[in-house]
Amino acid sequence: MQIVHSNAELAEAVANARAQGKRIGFVPTMGALHDGHLSLVRIAQEQAEFTVVSIFVNPLQFGAGEDFEKYPRTLESDAEKLKTVGADLVYAPSAREIYADESGVIDQSVKQSAGAAGQGFEGAIRPGHFDGMLTVVARLFDLVKPDVAVFGAKDAQQLFLVRQLAERDYPSLAIVKAPIVREPSGLAMSSRNRYLSASEHQTAQSLSRSLRAGEAASRVAGASASSVLAAAQQVMAEVPEAKLDYLALVDQSTFAPVAEDFAGHALLLIAARIGTTRLLDNQEIVIEQPTTSLLGARE
Ligand code: PAF
Repeated sequence: MQIVHSNAELAEAVANARAQGKRIGFVPTMGALHDGHLSLVRIAQEQAEFTVVSIFVNPLQFGAGEDFEKYPRTLESDAEKLKTVGADLVYAPSAREIYADESGVIDQSVKQSAGAAGQGFEGAIRPGHFDGMLTVVARLFDLVKPDVAVFGAKDAQQLFLVRQLAERDYPSLAIVKAPIVREPSGLAMSSRNRYLSASEHQTAQSLSRSLRAGEAASRVAGASASSVLAAAQQVMAEVPEAKLDYLALVDQSTFAPVAEDFAGHALLLIAARIGTTRLLDNQEIVIEQPTTSLLGARE
C-alpha cells in the first residue's frame, strides 16, 4: 500500500493503475478510521480493482466552535488499518494541496453550494457544513477521478447531496451507498464515538433504540408518519441526557419531511447531543398504507 501526500504523486499512481486497465474505487474519509470505514473500503474493492482512500480533515466543513482542532488525526494507525484490508493507495494531502492553485492562492471557483436540500436538518444546525463538504468532495473527485465512490449511509443527507452533485457534474461516476455499521450495542459507528465517556456511551445507545422503536411502529397495520415519529420520540423522552436536535421522517427521494398520508420508502433521521458530542443515525422505514390514506380512499 502506497501513502502519498501530493496531487502529483496521486495522479501518477492513478494513471499507472489505469494503464493496467484497472478501475478506480474511491473512499473519502477524514481519518480516525473504524470498522465502518473499513467496510466502505471492502465495498469499493468489490466494484473496482484499485482502491484509493483519502484522509483529509476538511476545514471548510467545520463551523466556528466545532471540533476541527480536536478532530482526531491518526494517520499512522489509519494506514495500519487500511493495510489490513488491502487498500491500494492512501492520499493524505494538506489543505494547500487540495485548495490552492500553483501560486498558493485559494481557488474560489471550486466552491460548491448545497442548495435547498442542504438547508434543513444538519444544514440548519451546521450552516455552511454541506457547502464545505461538497467543495472538498468535488475537489477529491477531480483529483482522484474515480469510477466508483463509496459513502456511508449514516450521513444520509451528505449521501443525498453527493448523489445530486454526481448526477449533475460527474455523470459517469457511480456513487455507492454502504450500510451503517453498528457496535453490538446498536450504536452506529462514528469517529466521534471516541469522545464519549462510558456513561455517555450508554446514553448514546438511545438513538438506535429510538430508530428501532420507529421501525417497529412502521410495521403495525395502518402506521403513519406520526405513529412512527411518536414511537421514536417516546424513547428519546425517557433519556433527557440526550439532547435531541431533530427526529424526522423524510422522503428518501427528496429528503423533504413526509406528510401524514405518505406511503413509500422514508428515512427516519435522528441527531442528538450527548454531552459535547453530536451524533447522527438513521433507519430506512417503509410505510405501507397509512390509516389516513385509507380514510381518504373511503371518502
Ligand atoms: O463523511 C466524511 O467523513 C466527510 O464528510 C467527507 C465525505 C470525507 C468529506 O470531507
